[in-house]
Amino acid sequence: MTIKIAPSILTADFNHLGREIAAAQAAGVDWLHLDVMDGHFVPNLSFGPLVARAARAATTLPLDVHLMVEQPERLLNAFIAAGADRISVHLEACVHLHRVVQQIKEAGACAGVALNPATPLHLLEEILPELDQVLVMSVNPGFGGQAYIPASTARVQRLAAMVAGRGLTGVEIIVDGGVKAHNAAAIAAAGATVLVAGSAVFDGRHSVADNVAALRAALP
Ligand code: DX5
Ligand code: ZN
Repeated sequence: MTIKIAPSILTADFNHLGREIAAAQAAGVDWLHLDVMDGHFVPNLSFGPLVARAARAATTLPLDVHLMVEQPERLLNAFIAAGADRISVHLEACVHLHRVVQQIKEAGACAGVALNPATPLHLLEEILPELDQVLVMSVNPGFGGQAYIPASTARVQRLAAMVAGRGLTGVEIIVDGGVKAHNAAAIAAAGATVLVAGSAVFDGRHSVADNVAALRAALP
C-alpha cells in the first residue's frame, strides 16, 4: 500500500496560504492536515473553522482535522460544516469518547482518535473497532518543528499489530510530529499508513515540490 503524505499547514506561510496549499496538491500529497489548537489542551493557539473553510476552497484534497482542543464535541460540527473530511480528537480530552466518535460519524466525517506520547495504546481497546483512523503523536502536541520521539516507532509497530490482530483492515495509522525524509522509511516500515509532515514540507527554505519529492523518495 502506498504511504500517504499529509502536510500540516501549521508551518505554512499564512500570508500565502492558498498558494502553499495549491503547491502541496500539485506536488502530489494525499491529504491536508489541519492542526487546531485551543491554547488550553495544548499551550499554543492556532486557528478555527474559518481557516478550514479557506483551505476547503483552496484544494480538493481530503481535509484531515486534528483537534488538539478540550471538549472537541463543541467544535467538531463547525469544522465538518467548513469542509473537514476527517476529524481526530484526543482521547485525553474526551470524557465520553464513544459518544464523540459517534457524533463525528453522524455528521458524515471519518472518525479518529489521537494519542499523546505517554498515553497507553491499550486505552484504544474498546473504541478501536469504531474508528477510521488512529493518530499517534510522535512529538508532544502544540508546535511544529519538534524532534521525533524515537520510541514512537515501536508504538506504531504495536498499534499496527493491534489493528491487524483484530482484523480491522482499513484503519489508517497516522504518525504526526517530527516526520522527516531521514526517518520516514522506518516509520512506514513500522506500519504507518499516513505521515503528517509540517516543517518537512513547509520550511520556508526549499520549494514545497522539492520537500514533498524528498519525502516521497525516502518511502518504499
Ligand atoms: C503538533 C502537530 C503536528 C505538527 C507537525 O502538535 O500535531 O502536526 O504540526 O509538524 P512537524 O512535522 O514540523 O513536526
Ligand atoms: Zn497534527
